[in-house]
Amino acid sequence: MFIAILITGCGENSSGDKKVAIAFPNTTPSWQRNGDSMKKTLEEEGFNVELQFSATSDEQVKQVKEILENNPSCVVIGAIDGEAFVEVLEQAKEQGTPIIAFDRIIKNTDAVNYYASFDNEAIGEAMGEYFEAALNLKNGGGPYNIELFAGGPSDNNAHLFFKNTMAILEPYFKTGQLVCPSKQMDFNSCATADWNSANARNRIKDLLSKYYNAGQPLQAVLSPNDDIAGVILEEMKARGMQKPLISGLDADPAAINRIKAGEQTFTVSKDPDLLTSKCVRMIKAVVEGTEPSINDVTTYDNGVKVIPAYLCTPYIIDSGNVSNY
Ligand code: BGC
Repeated sequence: MFIAILITGCGENSSGDKKVAIAFPNTTPSWQRNGDSMKKTLEEEGFNVELQFSATSDEQVKQVKEILENNPSCVVIGAIDGEAFVEVLEQAKEQGTPIIAFDRIIKNTDAVNYYASFDNEAIGEAMGEYFEAALNLKNGGGPYNIELFAGGPSDNNAHLFFKNTMAILEPYFKTGQLVCPSKQMDFNSCATADWNSANARNRIKDLLSKYYNAGQPLQAVLSPNDDIAGVILEEMKARGMQKPLISGLDADPAAINRIKAGEQTFTVSKDPDLLTSKCVRMIKAVVEGTEPSINDVTTYDNGVKVIPAYLCTPYIIDSGNVSNY
Protein backbone atom coordinates (compact mmCIF):
# COMPACT_ATOMS: atom_id res chain seq x y z
CA MET A 1 0.00 0.00 0.00
CA PHE A 2 2.78 2.33 1.04
CA ILE A 3 4.54 1.66 -2.25
CA ALA A 4 1.48 2.54 -4.30
CA ILE A 5 1.08 5.83 -2.47
CA LEU A 6 4.74 6.65 -2.79
CA ILE A 7 4.77 6.09 -6.51
CA THR A 8 1.46 7.55 -7.57
CA GLY A 9 1.87 11.02 -8.90
CA CYS A 10 5.64 11.09 -8.79
CA GLY A 11 6.39 8.84 -11.75
CA GLU A 12 6.58 11.66 -14.29
CA ASN A 13 9.36 14.11 -13.72
CA SER A 14 8.74 17.84 -13.80
CA SER A 15 9.33 18.21 -17.54
CA GLY A 16 6.79 15.49 -18.19
CA ASP A 17 9.15 13.27 -20.24
CA LYS A 18 9.36 9.65 -19.44
CA LYS A 19 13.02 9.57 -18.54
CA VAL A 20 14.44 6.25 -17.33
CA ALA A 21 18.02 5.92 -16.13
CA ILE A 22 19.79 2.57 -16.07
CA ALA A 23 23.01 1.89 -14.13
CA PHE A 24 24.61 -1.47 -14.91
CA PRO A 25 28.02 -3.06 -14.29
CA ASN A 26 30.25 -3.61 -17.29
CA THR A 27 31.90 -6.62 -15.74
CA THR A 28 30.65 -9.43 -18.00
CA PRO A 29 29.29 -9.69 -21.56
CA SER A 30 25.81 -10.49 -20.23
CA TRP A 31 25.44 -6.99 -18.76
CA GLN A 32 26.12 -5.36 -22.11
CA ARG A 33 23.38 -7.54 -23.63
CA ASN A 34 20.98 -6.68 -20.79
CA GLY A 35 21.71 -2.96 -21.21
CA ASP A 36 21.27 -2.97 -24.98
CA SER A 37 18.07 -4.95 -24.73
CA MET A 38 16.61 -2.62 -22.05
CA LYS A 39 17.51 0.54 -23.97
CA LYS A 40 16.04 -0.71 -27.24
CA THR A 41 12.79 -1.93 -25.69
CA LEU A 42 12.27 1.20 -23.58
CA GLU A 43 12.91 3.47 -26.56
CA GLU A 44 10.35 1.52 -28.57
CA GLU A 45 7.91 2.26 -25.74
CA GLY A 46 8.62 5.98 -26.04
CA PHE A 47 10.95 6.37 -23.06
CA ASN A 48 13.95 8.62 -23.03
CA VAL A 49 16.77 6.33 -21.82
CA GLU A 50 20.06 7.11 -20.14
CA LEU A 51 22.14 3.90 -20.00
CA GLN A 52 25.36 3.98 -18.00
CA PHE A 53 27.87 1.28 -17.22
CA SER A 54 30.52 1.24 -14.52
CA ALA A 55 33.43 -0.96 -13.54
CA THR A 56 33.60 -0.41 -9.80
CA SER A 57 31.09 0.01 -7.02
CA ASP A 58 32.37 3.50 -6.09
CA GLU A 59 31.98 4.63 -9.67
CA GLN A 60 28.46 3.20 -9.83
CA VAL A 61 27.29 4.82 -6.59
CA LYS A 62 28.59 8.18 -7.85
CA GLN A 63 26.79 7.61 -11.14
CA VAL A 64 23.50 6.91 -9.39
CA LYS A 65 23.91 10.06 -7.28
CA GLU A 66 24.30 12.12 -10.45
CA ILE A 67 21.40 10.33 -12.12
CA LEU A 68 19.12 11.16 -9.19
CA GLU A 69 20.02 14.83 -9.41
CA ASN A 70 18.34 14.89 -12.85
CA ASN A 71 15.14 13.60 -11.27
CA PRO A 72 14.28 10.79 -13.72
CA SER A 73 10.90 9.03 -13.72
CA CYS A 74 12.48 5.75 -12.67
CA VAL A 75 15.97 4.34 -12.03
CA VAL A 76 16.94 0.75 -12.78
CA ILE A 77 20.07 -0.54 -11.04
CA GLY A 78 22.09 -3.71 -11.62
CA ALA A 79 24.15 -3.34 -8.45
CA ILE A 80 27.86 -4.04 -8.44
CA ASP A 81 27.79 -4.12 -4.64
CA GLY A 82 24.32 -4.86 -3.31
CA GLU A 83 25.12 -3.20 0.01
CA ALA A 84 26.53 0.07 -1.29
CA PHE A 85 23.32 2.01 -1.97
CA VAL A 86 21.92 2.70 1.49
CA GLU A 87 23.01 6.32 1.64
CA VAL A 88 22.64 7.39 -1.98
CA LEU A 89 19.09 6.03 -2.22
CA GLU A 90 17.94 8.26 0.64
CA GLN A 91 17.72 10.97 -2.00
CA ALA A 92 15.51 8.75 -4.15
CA LYS A 93 13.14 8.38 -1.24
CA GLU A 94 13.12 12.11 -0.53
CA GLN A 95 12.26 13.01 -4.10
CA GLY A 96 10.02 9.98 -4.64
CA THR A 97 12.02 8.42 -7.50
CA PRO A 98 11.01 4.78 -8.00
CA ILE A 99 13.94 2.35 -7.90
CA ILE A 100 13.93 -1.06 -9.55
CA ALA A 101 16.67 -3.56 -8.71
CA PHE A 102 17.60 -5.49 -11.85
CA ASP A 103 18.96 -9.04 -11.66
CA ARG A 104 20.73 -8.40 -8.32
CA ILE A 105 18.97 -7.40 -5.10
CA ILE A 106 19.88 -4.13 -3.35
CA LYS A 107 20.17 -4.61 0.39
CA ASN A 108 19.51 -2.74 3.62
CA THR A 109 17.34 0.04 2.22
CA ASP A 110 13.60 0.52 1.86
CA ALA A 111 14.14 2.84 -1.12
CA VAL A 112 13.90 -0.11 -3.54
CA ASN A 113 10.37 -0.52 -4.88
CA TYR A 114 10.60 -3.65 -7.02
CA TYR A 115 13.00 -6.38 -8.07
CA ALA A 116 13.13 -7.89 -11.58
CA SER A 117 15.29 -10.99 -11.80
CA PHE A 118 15.49 -14.68 -12.49
CA ASP A 119 14.73 -17.33 -9.94
CA ASN A 120 18.27 -17.35 -8.57
CA GLU A 121 17.63 -20.21 -6.15
CA ALA A 122 16.37 -22.31 -9.05
CA ILE A 123 19.57 -21.53 -10.98
CA GLY A 124 21.69 -22.98 -8.16
CA GLU A 125 19.43 -26.02 -7.89
CA ALA A 126 19.49 -26.59 -11.65
CA MET A 127 23.29 -26.63 -11.62
CA GLY A 128 23.39 -29.09 -8.70
CA GLU A 129 20.81 -31.36 -10.31
CA TYR A 130 22.71 -31.36 -13.58
CA PHE A 131 25.89 -32.60 -11.88
CA GLU A 132 23.89 -35.13 -9.87
CA ALA A 133 22.32 -36.61 -13.01
CA ALA A 134 25.33 -36.37 -15.33
CA LEU A 135 27.62 -38.07 -12.80
CA ASN A 136 24.92 -40.62 -11.95
CA LEU A 137 25.35 -39.78 -8.27
CA LYS A 138 21.91 -41.00 -7.18
CA ASN A 139 22.89 -44.47 -8.38
CA GLY A 140 26.27 -44.52 -6.66
CA GLY A 141 28.42 -42.90 -9.41
CA GLY A 142 31.92 -41.78 -8.50
CA PRO A 143 34.30 -41.13 -6.91
CA TYR A 144 34.93 -38.01 -8.98
CA ASN A 145 37.28 -35.13 -8.31
CA ILE A 146 35.54 -31.77 -8.40
CA GLU A 147 36.61 -28.15 -7.78
CA LEU A 148 34.14 -25.43 -6.93
CA PHE A 149 33.98 -21.80 -8.03
CA ALA A 150 31.53 -19.16 -6.83
CA GLY A 151 30.79 -15.61 -8.01
CA GLY A 152 31.51 -12.27 -6.35
CA PRO A 153 30.87 -11.93 -2.60
CA SER A 154 29.22 -8.49 -2.95
CA ASP A 155 26.50 -9.97 -5.19
CA ASN A 156 23.67 -11.74 -3.39
CA ASN A 157 23.04 -13.91 -6.46
CA ALA A 158 26.47 -15.50 -6.11
CA HIS A 159 25.58 -16.67 -2.59
CA LEU A 160 22.19 -18.02 -3.69
CA PHE A 161 23.65 -19.92 -6.65
CA PHE A 162 26.38 -21.55 -4.54
CA LYS A 163 24.19 -22.34 -1.54
CA ASN A 164 21.50 -24.02 -3.62
CA THR A 165 23.98 -26.04 -5.69
CA MET A 166 25.85 -27.18 -2.60
CA ALA A 167 22.63 -28.25 -0.87
CA ILE A 168 22.30 -30.85 -3.64
CA LEU A 169 25.97 -31.85 -3.87
CA GLU A 170 26.88 -31.95 -0.17
CA PRO A 171 25.53 -35.47 0.56
CA TYR A 172 27.79 -36.87 -2.17
CA PHE A 173 30.89 -35.39 -0.52
CA LYS A 174 29.84 -37.23 2.64
CA THR A 175 29.52 -40.57 0.83
CA GLY A 176 32.86 -39.98 -0.92
CA GLN A 177 31.31 -40.01 -4.41
CA LEU A 178 32.52 -36.44 -4.85
CA VAL A 179 36.00 -35.50 -3.68
CA CYS A 180 37.38 -32.00 -3.58
CA PRO A 181 41.19 -32.39 -3.54
CA SER A 182 41.81 -28.73 -2.61
CA LYS A 183 39.27 -29.00 0.23
CA GLN A 184 38.17 -25.47 -0.71
CA MET A 185 34.46 -25.92 -0.32
CA ASP A 186 33.01 -22.95 1.53
CA PHE A 187 31.73 -19.85 -0.27
CA ASN A 188 34.61 -17.59 0.74
CA SER A 189 37.33 -19.99 -0.40
CA CYS A 190 35.55 -20.54 -3.72
CA ALA A 191 34.46 -16.93 -4.42
CA THR A 192 35.69 -14.92 -7.41
CA ALA A 193 36.08 -11.29 -6.32
CA ASP A 194 33.91 -9.01 -8.50
CA TRP A 195 33.09 -12.00 -10.73
CA ASN A 196 36.32 -11.05 -12.47
CA SER A 197 37.50 -13.95 -14.63
CA ALA A 198 41.16 -12.91 -14.19
CA ASN A 199 40.76 -13.77 -10.48
CA ALA A 200 39.25 -17.15 -11.39
CA ARG A 201 42.16 -17.77 -13.76
CA ASN A 202 44.64 -17.20 -10.94
CA ARG A 203 42.73 -19.53 -8.67
CA ILE A 204 42.40 -22.41 -11.17
CA LYS A 205 46.11 -22.10 -12.03
CA ASP A 206 46.94 -22.34 -8.36
CA LEU A 207 44.64 -25.34 -7.82
CA LEU A 208 45.97 -27.17 -10.87
CA SER A 209 49.60 -26.67 -9.89
CA LYS A 210 49.04 -27.68 -6.27
CA TYR A 211 46.57 -30.57 -6.49
CA TYR A 212 46.70 -31.88 -10.07
CA ASN A 213 50.41 -31.76 -10.86
CA ALA A 214 50.91 -35.51 -11.05
CA GLY A 215 48.24 -36.47 -13.55
CA GLN A 216 45.32 -36.52 -11.11
CA PRO A 217 42.06 -36.22 -13.06
CA LEU A 218 39.70 -33.30 -12.48
CA GLN A 219 36.39 -34.67 -13.66
CA ALA A 220 34.04 -31.84 -12.71
CA VAL A 221 34.14 -28.11 -12.10
CA LEU A 222 31.33 -25.96 -10.76
CA SER A 223 31.62 -22.64 -12.57
CA PRO A 224 29.18 -19.86 -11.61
CA ASN A 225 29.02 -18.32 -15.10
CA ASP A 226 30.23 -18.68 -18.67
CA ASP A 227 32.94 -16.08 -18.43
CA ILE A 228 34.62 -18.01 -15.63
CA ALA A 229 34.01 -21.40 -17.31
CA GLY A 230 35.93 -20.05 -20.33
CA VAL A 231 39.12 -19.34 -18.38
CA ILE A 232 38.94 -22.59 -16.42
CA LEU A 233 38.66 -24.56 -19.66
CA GLU A 234 41.55 -22.61 -21.18
CA GLU A 235 43.83 -23.36 -18.25
CA MET A 236 42.93 -27.05 -18.19
CA LYS A 237 43.45 -27.31 -21.95
CA ALA A 238 46.83 -25.55 -21.67
CA ARG A 239 47.93 -28.36 -19.32
CA GLY A 240 46.60 -31.03 -21.68
CA MET A 241 43.94 -32.14 -19.19
CA GLN A 242 40.72 -33.91 -20.17
CA LYS A 243 37.62 -31.74 -20.50
CA PRO A 244 35.68 -31.75 -17.23
CA LEU A 245 31.94 -31.70 -16.69
CA ILE A 246 31.56 -27.94 -16.28
CA SER A 247 28.66 -25.58 -15.68
CA GLY A 248 28.07 -22.01 -16.82
CA LEU A 249 25.49 -19.26 -16.71
CA ASP A 250 24.27 -16.57 -19.12
CA ALA A 251 24.30 -18.38 -22.47
CA ASP A 252 27.13 -16.14 -23.68
CA PRO A 253 27.72 -16.64 -27.43
CA ALA A 254 31.22 -17.94 -26.60
CA ALA A 255 29.70 -20.55 -24.29
CA ILE A 256 27.15 -21.62 -26.91
CA ASN A 257 30.07 -22.19 -29.28
CA ARG A 258 31.95 -24.17 -26.64
CA ILE A 259 28.88 -26.34 -26.01
CA LYS A 260 28.57 -26.95 -29.78
CA ALA A 261 32.28 -27.88 -29.86
CA GLY A 262 31.83 -30.28 -26.94
CA GLU A 263 34.04 -28.23 -24.61
CA GLN A 264 31.60 -26.75 -22.09
CA THR A 265 28.94 -29.11 -20.75
CA PHE A 266 26.06 -26.72 -20.16
CA THR A 267 24.99 -23.18 -19.43
CA VAL A 268 21.94 -21.79 -17.70
CA SER A 269 20.24 -19.24 -19.90
CA LYS A 270 18.85 -16.07 -18.40
CA ASP A 271 17.21 -14.76 -21.54
CA PRO A 272 17.88 -10.98 -21.51
CA ASP A 273 14.84 -10.27 -23.67
CA LEU A 274 12.58 -12.08 -21.22
CA LEU A 275 13.92 -10.18 -18.21
CA THR A 276 13.82 -6.93 -20.16
CA SER A 277 10.21 -7.37 -21.19
CA LYS A 278 9.15 -8.02 -17.57
CA CYS A 279 11.24 -5.11 -16.29
CA VAL A 280 9.89 -2.72 -18.91
CA ARG A 281 6.34 -3.61 -17.85
CA MET A 282 7.36 -2.85 -14.27
CA ILE A 283 8.85 0.51 -15.29
CA LYS A 284 5.71 1.44 -17.24
CA ALA A 285 3.54 0.62 -14.26
CA VAL A 286 5.58 2.66 -11.78
CA VAL A 287 5.83 5.61 -14.14
CA GLU A 288 2.09 5.49 -14.77
CA GLY A 289 1.41 5.04 -11.06
CA THR A 290 -0.19 1.59 -11.35
CA GLU A 291 0.72 -1.72 -9.71
CA PRO A 292 3.20 -3.80 -11.72
CA SER A 293 2.72 -7.50 -12.12
CA ILE A 294 4.81 -9.44 -9.61
CA ASN A 295 5.04 -13.16 -8.87
CA ASP A 296 7.07 -13.32 -5.65
CA VAL A 297 6.43 -11.52 -2.38
CA THR A 298 8.36 -13.74 0.01
CA THR A 299 11.87 -14.63 -1.17
CA TYR A 300 13.81 -11.38 -1.34
CA ASP A 301 14.07 -9.91 2.12
CA ASN A 302 16.74 -7.25 1.68
CA GLY A 303 17.32 -6.83 5.41
CA VAL A 304 14.79 -4.00 5.75
CA LYS A 305 11.78 -5.24 3.79
CA VAL A 306 10.72 -7.98 1.41
CA ILE A 307 11.04 -6.57 -2.09
CA PRO A 308 8.12 -7.50 -4.36
CA ALA A 309 9.67 -9.29 -7.29
CA TYR A 310 9.04 -10.66 -10.74
CA LEU A 311 11.24 -13.73 -11.16
CA CYS A 312 11.71 -15.19 -14.64
CA THR A 313 12.41 -18.86 -15.28
CA PRO A 314 15.91 -19.85 -16.37
CA TYR A 315 16.57 -22.86 -18.58
CA ILE A 316 19.44 -25.17 -19.37
CA ILE A 317 21.25 -25.36 -22.69
CA ASP A 318 23.48 -28.37 -23.29
CA SER A 319 24.44 -30.63 -26.21
CA GLY A 320 20.83 -31.88 -26.37
CA ASN A 321 19.28 -28.54 -27.34
CA VAL A 322 22.19 -26.25 -28.28
CA SER A 323 21.41 -26.51 -31.99
CA ASN A 324 18.39 -24.25 -31.34
CA TYR A 325 20.71 -21.37 -30.39
C1 BGC B 1 24.34 -12.51 -12.66
C2 BGC B 1 25.04 -13.39 -13.66
C3 BGC B 1 26.34 -12.76 -14.13
C4 BGC B 1 27.15 -12.33 -12.93
C5 BGC B 1 28.40 -11.60 -13.33
C6 BGC B 1 25.27 -12.19 -11.55
O1 BGC B 1 24.62 -11.37 -10.63
O2 BGC B 1 23.18 -13.13 -12.15
O3 BGC B 1 24.18 -13.58 -14.74
O4 BGC B 1 27.09 -13.65 -14.88
O5 BGC B 1 26.39 -11.53 -12.08
O6 BGC B 1 28.11 -10.40 -13.94
